[in-house]
Amino acid sequence: MSDPANISVLAICGSLRQGSYNMATLRAAIAAKPADMTVSIADISAIPLYNEDVRAQGFPGPVETLRQQIRMADALLIACPEYNYSMTGVLKNAIDWASRPPEQPFAGKPLAIIGAAAGMAGSARAQYDLRRSCVFLDLHPLNKPEVLIGQAQNKFDSDGNLTDAVARDLLRDLMANLAIWTRLIAKKA
Ligand SMILES: Cc1cc2nc3c(=O)[nH]c(=O)nc-3n(C[C@H](O)[C@H](O)[C@H](O)COP(=O)(O)O)c2cc1C
Repeated sequence: MSDPANISVLAICGSLRQGSYNMATLRAAIAAKPADMTVSIADISAIPLYNEDVRAQGFPGPVETLRQQIRMADALLIACPEYNYSMTGVLKNAIDWASRPPEQPFAGKPLAIIGAAAGMAGSARAQYDLRRSCVFLDLHPLNKPEVLIGQAQNKFDSDGNLTDAVARDLLRDLMANLAIWTRLIAKKA
């Protein structure tokens, strides 16, 4: 950690949709963060579809930016929507690009995962797929609390504010635990 008094978190949202519930969940997480944490949100909208031939020519600009942002962050926060019982192509594509050598930037980073979905399971299946990828990426995902916002269409107001008090409390606990988890991992590194 470059500054032990402040934890810098890079947030990534797996939905590009203007009115995304996952982006709204990210905003609610930022509102609930501890004072000694700063969170910036990555823009993954310009990342092209992964193509090994393109990578052989060098990382495209938006990928290089993301890789650098990941490298600089003390921890990551991913908002993980669910498409067809898995993570979105947009999120997986960004992870695939950023994960390529040299200097795989995810290795050793603490991570918190949140998600909102229309279904009852609140993106649980997508989040568990993301957790599976964490093994290969050598990320350290925080286990608890799980933030699974089901029936998201009923949990936000028309301005995108999270109206569900239980979910807001979970986000506050998650962000506090992410700070503890990040310091613990930094101490062991
Ligand atoms: C291609 C596609 C597949 C979807 N599959 C699921 C699914 O497996 N489970 C679920 O709960 N919702 C599913 N949904 C609904 C999403 O949860 C919903 O569109 C949600 O708003 C997406 O997240 P966002 O608001 O952050 O864009 C799907 C939506 C799309 C467009």
